[in-house]
Amino acid sequence: MGYLKLVVKESLRLHPTAVLIPGQSTTITNVKGYYIPAKTRVLINAWSVHRDPKQWEKPNEFIPERFLNNPIDYKGQDFKYIPFGSGRRGCPGITFGTAVVELAIANLLYWFDWKTPGGEDLDMREGHGITVNRAVPLELVPISHFSA
Ligand code: HEM
Repeated sequence: MGYLKLVVKESLRLHPTAVLIPGQSTTITNVKGYYIPAKTRVLINAWSVHRDPKQWEKPNEFIPERFLNNPIDYKGQDFKYIPFGSGRRGCPGITFGTAVVELAIANLLYWFDWKTPGGEDLDMREGHGITVNRAVPLELVPISHFSA
């Protein structure tokens, strides 16, 4: 379960469910020379923050171990990792959401090994939408660990 938690964390880094997190500036702000008036609609691009090469080593690679012995959690205190947003409007469902995802995947892996139909690599391209989805629907063959 320890490693599975790292896998979920890394999956939410590379494929954050909410790619663009909407917000509104409360006061006049200056971000790296960009003047942002009060009450401006801003979209935080979590996808690109999570792949920023200035913040992450090998940003486009799937490396769950990067979260091993690493204090970054889901709460959004560290602005380079914001799959649940941050601050007062951050997601109130972090604990429930992660528990459901971890439990579901743990069950699928406990009972089955999984293969692609022709042994091909997974196509991890993303589709478009308000929340992220797969460009190509996932098709897998379950192989029971317990069949005779
Ligand atoms: C893996 C699962 C989930 C992910 C990745 C996720 C992600 C997010 C993100 C990115 C936001 C925007 C945060 C911000 O504006 O800073 C958000 C907001 C919110 N989420 Fe989640 N969420 C998940 C599960 C849940 C669950 C299980 C619930 C409720 C049971 C929930 C309820 C909410 C609500 C009510 C908001 C709006 C909060 C506000 O605007 O004050 N989420 N979520």
